[in-house]
Amino acid sequence: MANDDPTTTPARAGGLPEVVEERKRAAARAAAALVDDGMRVGLGTGSTVAHLLPALAERRLPALRCVATSPATARAAAALGLELVDLDELDGKLDVAIDGADEIDPGGWAIKGGGAAHTREKIVAAAARRFIVIASAEKSVGTLTPPVPLEILRFGATATLAAVAPARLRGVDPSPDGNLIADHLGAIHDPRALARHLADTPGVVEHGLFPPELISELLIAGAHGVEHRRGARRAA
Ligand code: 5RP
Repeated sequence: MANDDPTTTPARAGGLPEVVEERKRAAARAAAALVDDGMRVGLGTGSTVAHLLPALAERRLPALRCVATSPATARAAAALGLELVDLDELDGKLDVAIDGADEIDPGGWAIKGGGAAHTREKIVAAAARRFIVIASAEKSVGTLTPPVPLEILRFGATATLAAVAPARLRGVDPSPDGNLIADHLGAIHDPRALARHLADTPGVVEHGLFPPELISELLIAGAHGVEHRRGARRAA
């Protein structure tokens, strides 16, 4: 079964669950405070985003329009009264996108896709003028570690997996766009080289390596509050 519950995306990082949860909430609330009425907002997927949705709803911004990156986020956002629209209805343009991450390295690379939504998440992040990553401090790592999530076409899946070996299917439902979810399991010595290899492989729809140039800001919540880091992306 696909993990489409925004509250249960598998956490890679350790830490006391209640402490980690409180940090996720703190990062999410800090991001919600950066949203103004009238904005077009991309909503990521996962347990950190699950804290963002009520924090945004509480702001009661009547002209907010949101684009969800997964059916789970769409359901949760709609239940809270947030207005949802298609990205195409907004001419493919967002003011801000806010999303979690599985790991973040010191160079600003992130791995996403623990919830199998990385393809839509990357489209939404790229469509936004500002992409904000929210995470508990446990997600900050010295070196990125596998897996790197993949979305691949059904056609020729065996050949695609062989071309990006070591990799295997994840055993979850297909993506909302009908593709298979897999994971690249090799060590990540050079994220940029690996991202290029994965992107250049026919049959790979999208991979979960998010480059520093895509990320505008990071809100990382730890023992001493929420640290606001700049990403490598500059406003267009
Ligand atoms: C979903 C994602 C999530 O943002 C990522 O897995 C982090 O999830 P969580 O906030 O539950 O730790 O990329 O595809």
